[in-house]
Amino acid sequence: MEIKLNVNGAVHAVDVDGDTPLLWVLRDVLGMTGTKFGCGMALCGACTVHLDGQPVRSCMTPVESVGAGAVTTIEVIGRTAVGRRVQQAWTAKEVPQCGYCQSGQIMAATALLNVNPAPSDADIDQAMSGNVCRCGTYARIREAIKQASRDLAANRS
Ligand code: FES
Ligand code: FES
Repeated sequence: MEIKLNVNGAVHAVDVDGDTPLLWVLRDVLGMTGTKFGCGMALCGACTVHLDGQPVRSCMTPVESVGAGAVTTIEVIGRTAVGRRVQQAWTAKEVPQCGYCQSGQIMAATALLNVNPAPSDADIDQAMSGNVCRCGTYARIREAIKQASRDLAANRS
């Protein structure tokens, strides 16, 4: 069936089964491979994208459920003010190790800072708890989120 999807500000018509996970439409149909497959069961966060600004697990999101919602992926998150600060902090703190989980981590962190620009450690731990990193970069992730928070505050003042 033809489904129209709003991804990164552009409308795409895709011909897929309605129950196809959004992840596979992004990767295999639209060629946006920045979003990763980890578990396929909403357990690891590697596939995190934003749907109308909310972090969602694209591996468990049937494409037909997206409707007219705006999907944002790692490919363009750096064009937003918060996403850009997050990516800069990620680089400054040298967060990634193997890198596989990191696009999902950045999408989750950006979603957090969009609604809570000055998160506590507990806020960070709660917001990021569903994003698994097998390389154990959690301490650097937390530091990078704090750095991005400081940078955003400085930029606002
Ligand atoms: S691949 Fe979607 S949560 Fe793991
Ligand atoms: S950096 Fe390797 S899984 Fe997170």
